[in-house]
Amino acid sequence: MAEGNWHAADIDRVIVGEDQIRDKVDELAKQVAADYATADSVLLVGVLKGAVMFMADFARALGRHGPPVEMEFMAVSSYGQGTTSSGVVRILKDLDSDIAGRHVIVVEDIVDSGLTLSWLMKYLQSRRAASVEVVALLRKPDAVKVTVPVKYVGFDIPNEFVVGYGLDYSERYREVPYVGVLRKSVYAQS
Ligand code: XMP
Ligand code: MG
Repeated sequence: MAEGNWHAADIDRVIVGEDQIRDKVDELAKQVAADYATADSVLLVGVLKGAVMFMADFARALGRHGPPVEMEFMAVSSYGQGTTSSGVVRILKDLDSDIAGRHVIVVEDIVDSGLTLSWLMKYLQSRRAASVEVVALLRKPDAVKVTVPVKYVGFDIPNEFVVGYGLDYSERYREVPYVGVLRKSVYAQS
């Protein structure tokens, strides 16, 4: 059974709890801070909307450990309303600034098939970033279709649809403070 509140009834089980997320975000930030210790700054590119919570927490953790940070956001669509990847990536919101020569770190909620990220990395490289790495809170190793070099990974999780901490099902559950698996009956209703 999930922790507290209205959403507990919709969540089958918690995959990553709040404390685990907090500790992991700090650990990832320390790694990144060490790797970029000599960089003037890093440019975090958050992938909307799923990465908002992670982006906010990760940027603050870097603020405690790391080099100066700037933030950009992109929105791409690959899933639509459903729960399976189409492989078709469309830019809904592009970068606001020129990233040429910048050390870019893509901040992703989850690497599932890897299709979105693979496309995004090529795109950012084509914009002549000095370096492009990825930090992803979650990864589903059993769902991979294209291998993407994700340097920083929080948690490897089972190949099940998860929600919470920014991840949604039809725009719901983003505010849930942990990551959990939705009950099957929730899909059945909609
Ligand atoms: P791919 O398959 O391209 O996935 O690696 C890219 C995006 O799909 C979303 N995604 C999920 N969203 N629960 C969600 O709420 C999931 O289990 C899930 N798996 C993939 C997510 O936005 C990811 O960036
Ligand atoms: Mg995403």
